[in-house]
Amino acid sequence: MSIVTGGANGIGRALAEQVVRRGGHVVIADLDGTAATATAAALTSASAADGGSAEAVQVDVAEPGAVADLVERVSREHGRLDFMANNAGILVAGPLTEFTERQWEVAIDVNFRAVVAGGARHTP
Ligand SMILES: NC(=O)c1ccc[n+]([C@@H]2O[C@H](COP(=O)([O-])OP(=O)(O)OC[C@H]3O[C@@H](n4cnc5c(N)ncnc54)[C@H](O)[C@@H]3O)[C@@H](O)[C@H]2O)c1
Repeated sequence: MSIVTGGANGIGRALAEQVVRRGGHVVIADLDGTAATATAAALTSASAADGGSAEAVQVDVAEPGAVADLVERVSREHGRLDFMANNAGILVAGPLTEFTERQWEVAIDVNFRAVVAGGARHTP
């Protein structure tokens, strides 16, 4: 059982694809629920012969408790969690001195706090 945050696109999608290709089941957790649903359907369809599958869930990893809740729910429903990719991330570009308070908050929440939350809950 696996979770890939930010799995609807890019590197996260590639990680999720590797799981289903090996016959695993992956939860694609992404801010963009529509893209996550489309990716999960495409990966499941492409790996039907391998027995792998994917499901989508709309999650904003920056929301307090969201990643911890996701890990807890998936672990409980599937009885195990083998692989957790805290992949969701954003690039905030530009001169640091010109960042707004809000840009700092979002960058720290998505790129740092959410990763710590996912790792902390996954550690036995
Ligand atoms: N692509 C690179 O060259 C590169 C380099 C260094 C680090 N990274 C890191 O690797 C990770 C993936 O990069 P990528 O290029 O595939 O990015 P991407 O932009 O292609 O995909 C990121 C995915 O994360 C999702 N996402 C964004 N904010 C989210 C949130 N708050 N909650 C849930 N999902 C959210 C997006 O909807 C998207 O599907 C990121 O953490 C990125 O910072 C990428």
